[in-house]
Amino acid sequence: MAQNNHNNSVTLSKIKNRTAKVGIIGLGYVGLPLALAFSEKFQVLGYDADPKKRKMLRQGRSYIDDVPSSELKKKLGTNLKVIEKDSQLRECDCIIICVPTPLDERGNPDLSYVQHSADLVKKVVRKGMLVVLESTSYPGTTDEFLGKAIKDAGFKPGKDVALAFSPERVDPGNKKYNIRNTPKVVGGEDAQSAELATALYSSIVEAGVVVMPDCASAEAVKILENIFRGVNIALINEMALIFERMGIDTWQVVKAASTKPFGFMAHYPGPGVGGHCIPLDPLYMSYRAKQYGFVPRFIELSHEVNEFMKNHTVNLTMAALKKAGVPADKATVAVMGLSYKKDISDTRESPAAGIIEELTKRVKRVIVHDPKASAIKTHVGVVKSVPMRSAMDQADCLVFVTDHSEFAALTPKGLRGKRVKAVVDTRNLFSREAVEHVGLVYKGIGK
Ligand SMILES: NC(=O)c1ccc[n+]([C@@H]2O[C@H](COP(=O)([O-])OP(=O)(O)OC[C@H]3O[C@@H](n4cnc5c(N)ncnc54)[C@H](O)[C@@H]3O)[C@@H](O)[C@H]2O)c1
Repeated sequence: MAQNNHNNSVTLSKIKNRTAKVGIIGLGYVGLPLALAFSEKFQVLGYDADPKKRKMLRQGRSYIDDVPSSELKKKLGTNLKVIEKDSQLRECDCIIICVPTPLDERGNPDLSYVQHSADLVKKVVRKGMLVVLESTSYPGTTDEFLGKAIKDAGFKPGKDVALAFSPERVDPGNKKYNIRNTPKVVGGEDAQSAELATALYSSIVEAGVVVMPDCASAEAVKILENIFRGVNIALINEMALIFERMGIDTWQVVKAASTKPFGFMAHYPGPGVGGHCIPLDPLYMSYRAKQYGFVPRFIELSHEVNEFMKNHTVNLTMAALKKAGVPADKATVAVMGLSYKKDISDTRESPAAGIIEELTKRVKRVIVHDPKASAIKTHVGVVKSVPMRSAMDQADCLVFVTDHSEFAALTPKGLRGKRVKAVVDTRNLFSREAVEHVGLVYKGIGK
């Protein structure tokens, strides 16, 4: 490892003796849990650009499922401070950036949030600081945006200001894996940057830190992980479309294939992918690959297949209504589940939005219910959740989009509302036989 220069060694010893101050930019799904985790060991200054979020946090009100307000209040009383002025970040020894990396209207990477954070870094950076990007993006982003900001501030990235990328691997709602027991990947601008970032994360990650040769390789790790998931989900979605036509139950097939102790990893079909990662991150790589003259096929095809599953859900709904003898122009359809994933309230990029938009064009009325999310933004406006009983009493057809525990607990008899005649099950929540046994039409993805 290279000889530490004076500034880096001061920061390193501050990290080691826990006197370093850690700043977090962006207090969302990634930044807020991270701020809480670091506040176990360090003084933490958290900054979010959204004044409403800052206000809520300062009042001890959490808006993230995995962060209980009680936990937040406890940390606010000790090591965690939510700051109003971004210039206060100048006091920090380490700054970690956790801002969104969405797509723009044309489906290209929108790195404006990273750019704003880089502008902020340029304003507050000083010699000896460690700057880490956690937001997911294509390989090259850390150097392109933060390396440049550090240079523009008159410093040399690595030598004067340590710079690293460390992808976030948080899996919202996962009760088993969290920041502490998931290995952390780190890539630095140089060996000293990697050493500082490793020391910092080792203080909260018990599962160890995996060091990559540079920032771009660490960025590549995260993008590969998400592409791997997107491609495999698309593959199983395609198999589900085939098996459905053949009368084969995909869910049983996956279960049996999973008994092979090596070489197979279970993925499940569904109404499409959602959240801030799987639907977006692969397109970051695709965009970057094209800049290098390579047109990726797997990545884009997977995106198309996963997107198609929303249409497929709508097609199954129309077929279910027809089979149940309910004319579409008289039908009320209840979309059950708005969030993209079981037992969480996050509706970002949820397939429910596209399904609601398309169904709105095809049936008389669409109502929605979600036990966790109160509403969803769609192109047809914000659609608010109604109580479960009300949804089930008004609907001719129930379309289960999310496998929330509340839905899994329903019995086939419990599916019968005042007028329910059909059920569309995109998550294998119910058995076809049991639902048909109580006199309802059943259509399920992949069976
Ligand atoms: N959500 C996940 O499960 C997850 C998992 C792994 C990686 N990631 C990645 O982490 C990054 C953050 O995702 P997230 O889910 O936490 O997003 P988020 O939208 O929940 O949180 C980002 C926060 O940053 C704030 N912000 C935006 N610009 C800012 C600025 N210039 N200064 C200060 N605050 C600013 C926003 O107000 C928001 O509160 C993304 O790149 C995402 O791809 C997310």
